[in-house]
Amino acid sequence: MIKLAPSILSADFCNLASEVEEVRAAGAEWLHVDVMDGEFVPNISIGIPVVKNLRKHTDMFLDVHLMITKPRRYVGQFCDAGADLVTIHLEADEPQNIIEALEDIRAHGKKAGLSIKPRTPGSALLPYLEYLDLVLIMTVEPGFGGQSFMRDMLNKLRGVRALIDQYRPGCEVEVDGGIDASTAPLVVDSGASVLVAGSAVFGKADRAAAIEELRMASDVKA
Ligand code: DX5
Ligand code: ZN
Repeated sequence: MIKLAPSILSADFCNLASEVEEVRAAGAEWLHVDVMDGEFVPNISIGIPVVKNLRKHTDMFLDVHLMITKPRRYVGQFCDAGADLVTIHLEADEPQNIIEALEDIRAHGKKAGLSIKPRTPGSALLPYLEYLDLVLIMTVEPGFGGQSFMRDMLNKLRGVRALIDQYRPGCEVEVDGGIDASTAPLVVDSGASVLVAGSAVFGKADRAAAIEELRMASDVKA
């Protein structure tokens, strides 16, 4: 079963509670929270206080995507704030610090994810697989919503799906960037199990219809 994870980056931050309730009621499984520090990516978004407030207002699964440098410094605080899953970037620190950050997330009783940017090969994930509940394949350069899906990521996605099936079965394979009703069937067919969508959900006036459209498009018969 494919999970849909609307990204609040494209939501109305002045009406966050009702925005979140709308996608929950429409059947979205996860809520994707994009955290940007202005250093790892050329944009600044939201952080720990927003995760804390979301946790008070919803029981949705909070999928927190940290696009920040040296995430080891903050993963514990995001766990304590109420994240259910914290994903960090492989490119954001030295390998040993990445492993320690992943261990820290799991020591907090939360799920750990590792993301790779478009130019990082899927094989770079191999040394980390034993620490992971999720891998996140970026299908745009991280930093902004509303960008076009990079079609050449489909090959990488298929390769990562093969690695996961062989070495870490049960680990989720998430995709993020440019996912809409036209690209959803492509990524599902290539092995994605969790689909992040920002503008394709919160950019639409009717969120229930948007989620239904994504759901239908993700229902790819093998
Ligand atoms: C981009 C973020 C995405 C973003 C996706 O750096 O990680 O989660 O919200 O937005 P769309 O779905 O509009 O490409
Ligand atoms: Zn994201």
